[in-house]
Amino acid sequence: MSRPFEKVAVVGAGLLGAQIALLSAYAGYKVNLYDTRETAFEDTYKRLVGDFKNKGITPIIPWDSWETLKSEIQFSTDIAVALKDADFVIEAVFENLEVKLDVFKKMNENAPSKAIFASNSSSMPISRMENASGRPEKCINAHFYQPLQGMIMADIAPGSKTLPEVMEKGEAWITSLGCIPLKVNKEILGFCFNSVWRAIKRQTLYMWGNDYVDFRDIDRAWKIFSKMPIGPFGLMDMVGLDVVYDIEMVYYNESKDPKDKPPEAFLEKIKRGELGVKTGKGFYTYPNPEFLSPEFIKPKK
Ligand SMILES: NC(=O)c1ccc[n+]([C@@H]2O[C@H](COP(=O)([O-])OP(=O)(O)OC[C@H]3O[C@@H](n4cnc5c(N)ncnc54)[C@H](O)[C@@H]3O)[C@@H](O)[C@H]2O)c1
Repeated sequence: MSRPFEKVAVVGAGLLGAQIALLSAYAGYKVNLYDTRETAFEDTYKRLVGDFKNKGITPIIPWDSWETLKSEIQFSTDIAVALKDADFVIEAVFENLEVKLDVFKKMNENAPSKAIFASNSSSMPISRMENASGRPEKCINAHFYQPLQGMIMADIAPGSKTLPEVMEKGEAWITSLGCIPLKVNKEILGFCFNSVWRAIKRQTLYMWGNDYVDFRDIDRAWKIFSKMPIGPFGLMDMVGLDVVYDIEMVYYNESKDPKDKPPEAFLEKIKRGELGVKTGKGFYTYPNPEFLSPEFIKPKK
């Protein structure tokens, strides 16, 4: 696969930044990784390896390449060093607009003027950050979904002034990483797939929270209809109900439409510490949730 850039810089060495850096190095890019925390890359690397091994996940990068790729990635806490000569810079820092605006300003001060900038934000369109970048015509959203776990897709979206050739290079970069670019033609909250997933969460939470149906019946129907092993409520348990709540509130704060607000019963669950798989209880109880049993979708005679 041809590469549209030579040097890629990743800003933020947390869960997503580290995965994007590893995947870029695996695809043959020269990768610099920057974080304000000295141990950020080391910590995240250990966490990724530990999590994957504990959960029995086979990452899309073979295990025997990980240590080599890690040593090839140039980690630095000096942004000037990390962004020097970069052709493409993607930020994956905290999901906070103030932080991102400051980061885009610093990226502009330290990267060459030719460099294309991207944000991995889950919820913020690039138009919110493009003015701080000093190069709005060279800015895109490139939103990955845990790529090393096999979520081989990334939303790609333009801002208000993005040039078509910048979108094309972004798409080519995503493709070169072995991922499928999900192209969004104009700004929409949630981009391509998060918008769809969000519509499902909104409707299913509304139906459960207002006592129209039992959540198990929604998951049963979903499993039977789609042949998927898990339904929307099982999936929300996996993501973490607190995380789902925060994301839904981003949409609600944007629209102020009461139907966008997660139901009170959902917030009550979170207050009780029922956060899903990570606390052993959410909609289901773990480690053996009932939706995994064959009985869950067997007609009763
Ligand atoms: N976690 C997910 O499942 C997921 C999925 C898709 C997209 N995202 C998005 O990716 C971004 C990062 O999320 P994450 O889960 O990797 O977060 P994280 O908390 O694991 O990592 C964030 C990293 O950014 C660093 N950082 C914070 N401020 C910085 C600054 N000013 N300069 C440099 N580094 C800084 C932190 O030290 C940390 O290492 C967010 O925008 C999030 O919405 C997350």
